[in-house]
Amino acid sequence: MLNTNPSVCHKVQMPFLAQNNIDLEIKRDDLIHPVVSGNKWRKLKYLLMDAQAKDCKTLVSMGGNWSNHLHALAYAGKELGFNTAAFVRAHEGQRLTPTLEDCRQWGMDLIFTSRVDYAQLRHSFQWNHFAEQFPQSYWISEGGFSELAIKGAEEIGRELEQEYDHIFVGTGSGATLVGLAKACPESLVTGVASFSGAEYLHAQLEPFLKPQSNWRIDCEHHCGGFAKSNSELDSLVEEFHHHNDVRLDKVYNGKCLLAVKSAVAQGRINQGSKVLMIHTGGLQGMR
Ligand SMILES: Cc1ncc(COP(=O)(O)O)c(C=O)c1O
Repeated sequence: MLNTNPSVCHKVQMPFLAQNNIDLEIKRDDLIHPVVSGNKWRKLKYLLMDAQAKDCKTLVSMGGNWSNHLHALAYAGKELGFNTAAFVRAHEGQRLTPTLEDCRQWGMDLIFTSRVDYAQLRHSFQWNHFAEQFPQSYWISEGGFSELAIKGAEEIGRELEQEYDHIFVGTGSGATLVGLAKACPESLVTGVASFSGAEYLHAQLEPFLKPQSNWRIDCEHHCGGFAKSNSELDSLVEEFHHHNDVRLDKVYNGKCLLAVKSAVAQGRINQGSKVLMIHTGGLQGMR
């Protein structure tokens, strides 16, 4: 498996925290590996072990132009001796994003897929239809969502050395949120949706967490949609960098911090509370 660094927690400095007597820490999963950083490694670890145990040769997945998931998968696959292939929501003739350029350089076979076909793959995917095209292969769903990804995300919570009243994490598929909520039943875990219209996620994730109720999805801080930003988000990320010398991406982690700030302003986090946010990486997408 990959060599990874420990993920440390440290205190966050921000004026709104001091003014409200809130103790916010950040868990630096972004530092666990220079490429396969943040929750990417957490979600891939057990999937890749499973693929190895099943003697699969090729890892196949799907993602968009700036996918942190494909970026991490291409690198990890190369390091661990797998071939990799991915259905990519992009046009064959378009200029590759730096993310896809890296993927290709690391040997990933990019299969360009139209928006319509991509949506169909997402909703009616049947791996056995592709068995001939990809012999001895292992399918990893979009964003890596799976029981094994959740198992890996649980390790984020199991590493914590103290209990927190609240834990916040940026959310796409919800695998990291589910893992954290399972591992930290004493905390209220909030997954901050990075995209609009994420209300459906609640019903989708509930079966994985029943009967637990220590989790919620924040659908109010997507800032206009996936990879969209606004002046409030831009200045919060800059202010965070100024006070902490840590970069946050605006797709997941900036929105996560925005949700923490709103929850404090709305009095949903009590004074004196201990709060943790997970830095899930994703900085490659800012290029
Ligand atoms: C940097 C980053 N943070 C958070 C997430 C959301 O993780 P999940 O899909 O487990 O909700 C992703 C997507 O995988 C991501 O790339």
